[in-house]
Amino acid sequence: MSKQQPPSAQPCCQQQRRTFLTRLSIGLSAVIGFMIALPGIGFVLAPVFRKPKQKWRTVGKLADFKVGGFVLVQYEDPSPVAWAGVTATAGAWIRRASESEFIAFSINCRHLGCPVRWVEDPRLFMCPCHGGVYYEDGTVAAGPPPEPLERLNVRIRAGLVEIETGPTPLTLTKLT
Ligand code: FES
Repeated sequence: MSKQQPPSAQPCCQQQRRTFLTRLSIGLSAVIGFMIALPGIGFVLAPVFRKPKQKWRTVGKLADFKVGGFVLVQYEDPSPVAWAGVTATAGAWIRRASESEFIAFSINCRHLGCPVRWVEDPRLFMCPCHGGVYYEDGTVAAGPPPEPLERLNVRIRAGLVEIETGPTPLTLTKLT
């Protein structure tokens, strides 16, 4: 013959068991929901944390560059995400200073990234967005840019000119 619990103890145990199961199901649901969402979160956030690599890009034949002023070259930005589209296209200004010496600057203004253009007379880089101006050595002449234009490494290989490119060189500045 089984021994029965006193009638007053049963509702208490049932209540505790119900509370425990409710908490357990909420906890398991949260864990399962997190596990389902984790791959999606990783896919969206991975480009933010992945350090883009510097990459050498061919921008033309050595014979294409005459000694003198700056020439605009275009290449695919090494850091674009899969959906970047035309925004993956980046540019640089290259000058053949002598037969063997090249100087290259990123096209992006160091203020907010607008493309600067080279003006032969008065030999300045001009930014159309907020009036930033740079000297031909890339240093700031006027306007809001906080830093000189980013200088890129240049090398010659097998008669081709290559530049070392990285992510778009933006400086975070406060909009005041
Ligand atoms: S982006 Fe060039 S001056 Fe603002």
